[in-house]
Amino acid sequence: MKLLQDVRSVREAVRAERRSGATIGLVPTMGALHDGHLSLASASVAHCDVTAVSIFVNPLQFGPNEDFERYPRDFEADAKRLEPLGVDYVFTMTPEDMYPEGYCTYVVQEGLFEPLCGAFRPGHFRGVATVVTKLFLLAQPHAAFFGQKDAQQCIVLKRLVDDLGFDVDVRVVPTMREPDGLAMSSRNLYLSESRRRDAASLYRALSAARSLYETGERDTAPMIAAMDEVFAPIDDIVVEYREIVDPVTLQRIDRVESRALAAVAAKLGPSRLIDNVVLGADTLW
Ligand code: PAF
Repeated sequence: MKLLQDVRSVREAVRAERRSGATIGLVPTMGALHDGHLSLASASVAHCDVTAVSIFVNPLQFGPNEDFERYPRDFEADAKRLEPLGVDYVFTMTPEDMYPEGYCTYVVQEGLFEPLCGAFRPGHFRGVATVVTKLFLLAQPHAAFFGQKDAQQCIVLKRLVDDLGFDVDVRVVPTMREPDGLAMSSRNLYLSESRRRDAASLYRALSAARSLYETGERDTAPMIAAMDEVFAPIDDIVVEYREIVDPVTLQRIDRVESRALAAVAAKLGPSRLIDNVVLGADTLW
């Protein structure tokens, strides 16, 4: 496994791999790797000749009062976790490499950035869409792997690939969960013991909505009420949203006609957690 720490060496490696005819899988990450990230890397190793994992804490996708400064960074430890999986390249770069002095080019979408997380994190998806576009141009992957936990991000990026005509197969890998259902996330590291227990309520709420759906309910109001009931006894939680939305437009719906996305975001102390489940299908992808 090769560690590449500047844009030029990534370009050279990609050029050589492309020339040899290898298919390249890219797993974009911000590091602090957990088993969810490892499942993305394993999916890429299984699917592509060559796998590259990028580790870059992207300043552009963090708001002014968010956790950019304290986001956990340990490149060596992350690389160690990837080595046994058969990953070929791990690459990182500095914010100055990605956004040099005078940088002013951004990728924006109309409609998909604003709902759900977009309403609480203005500028977040502009940062994600911009950095992923740059990573695609740099690593020239045939396929790129993202986790379903970030469902809105997956929907935004699929649309971006279609709209801009990138020849990249965006693959969405199921969410990895702790035994109590909590979705794996680098931000779980910030949770105290009691908040860690409360964090499982996100998946419990989603499961309550899904149970109603599975027993034949199609109106979303009772599903939202079931989610609220799960959160009600938890003192410390700030629920930002709990919604049932159309999986293409991300707009709120009153009835589930075929498929829908049930999604939640909540703050528990310093951790902002998100999660989702699909209603009416095993997966949206
Ligand atoms: O999902 C993430 O970790 C980030 O949003 C991504 C896709 C690596 C872009 O910075």
